[in-house]
Amino acid sequence: MGGESGDAVRKSMELLVALGDVFGADKLVPVESAHISGVSYANLGDAGTEWLEEQAEMGARCRVRATLNPAGMDMERWREMNVPPEFAEGQRRVIGAFTRMGVEPTCTCTPYLIGHVPRRGAQIAWAESNAICYSNSVLGARTNRESGPTTLASAVTGLTPLYGMRMDENRAPGKVVEVEADLMTRLDYSALGYVTGKLVGSGVPYFRGLGKPDVESMKTLGAACATSGGVALWHSEGVTPEAGWASEHLDGVEKVAVERRDLEEARAKLSCEPDDPTYCLGCPHCSLRELAEAAKLSRNRKLGGRLWVFTSRGVYAQAADAGYVKAIEDAGGRVYRDTCMVVAPLHEMGWHGVATNSFKGAHYSVSHGFQTKIADVERLVEEASR
Ligand code: F3S
Repeated sequence: MGGESGDAVRKSMELLVALGDVFGADKLVPVESAHISGVSYANLGDAGTEWLEEQAEMGARCRVRATLNPAGMDMERWREMNVPPEFAEGQRRVIGAFTRMGVEPTCTCTPYLIGHVPRRGAQIAWAESNAICYSNSVLGARTNRESGPTTLASAVTGLTPLYGMRMDENRAPGKVVEVEADLMTRLDYSALGYVTGKLVGSGVPYFRGLGKPDVESMKTLGAACATSGGVALWHSEGVTPEAGWASEHLDGVEKVAVERRDLEEARAKLSCEPDDPTYCLGCPHCSLRELAEAAKLSRNRKLGGRLWVFTSRGVYAQAADAGYVKAIEDAGGRVYRDTCMVVAPLHEMGWHGVATNSFKGAHYSVSHGFQTKIADVERLVEEASR
């Protein structure tokens, strides 16, 4: 296949075969879709951008549906974000290269909220840890924790090596997490995810006592446990589609308990009181419901440009129709698309500190050298308006 289909496909095949060799895969299997990370010019720089342009030039073209993770800026409103023009030029080249290869420039980490929803049991090649966790756990699709290059290679060949989370035996639970805290807010789910990732590493947690989380709680839970650990899949009784099957594989599996004080300790370790933070919502990218809530909370506030809300183009369009974007921006908040509080060039944009309702966002914010605060959405909007 590779030799007949040009250099781009041949190189992609070589990468996937090498990956399969590393993990002991004995064959390649078809994938139904790809979600590609490694999009921000902040991470790619000129070398990564040139590599993508070369792939496009060599004729790399997607054979399956492929969507794109966030870029380093709102592709239209980057000036308002204070993104330097040279960065914007680099970012446009990156998106241009992906678009020429047939990747949909969705620029979101929540493709599952804008209609890219793999079916249960589908083999897919997804990168972006929260999207991986969501698609494996909540949708029951099958992907390993792929990278930017391997997802592009799978998009171009339509194939992936068969190993890891793609096989039943690796989807069985490795630890039972007994949740002994009452989970009252989405921030609690984010904290639980962060604590769980530290407890299970790259294992598969099976939650008991998770309650009935909404979509937003499940997206923040997965994002957090994929950040503090390497979780790609979680199960929960009565919540996730494979939990019944998973419950038949619990004999001898170790149990750990998570209490309220574990959640509070995790928060205390990451969180401080930064001077002059930017208040951020949308890690992972906001759903329509989260935008509706932010709009309601913003009413009669004076946010003075301090509240930044990140979402996808798809959700933004719906939120604009519903009047949520106007409500937030009339109050002095900003709603940006295509990017986020982690992959934008925040230092160059002049940020001093970050306040967020996401443990994932906080984790990266701290590692990028920002003083960081974690609080729930009500608190963030209230403080942004002081
Ligand atoms: Fe998404 Fe950026 Fe958070 S890619 S999960 S909003 S770090």
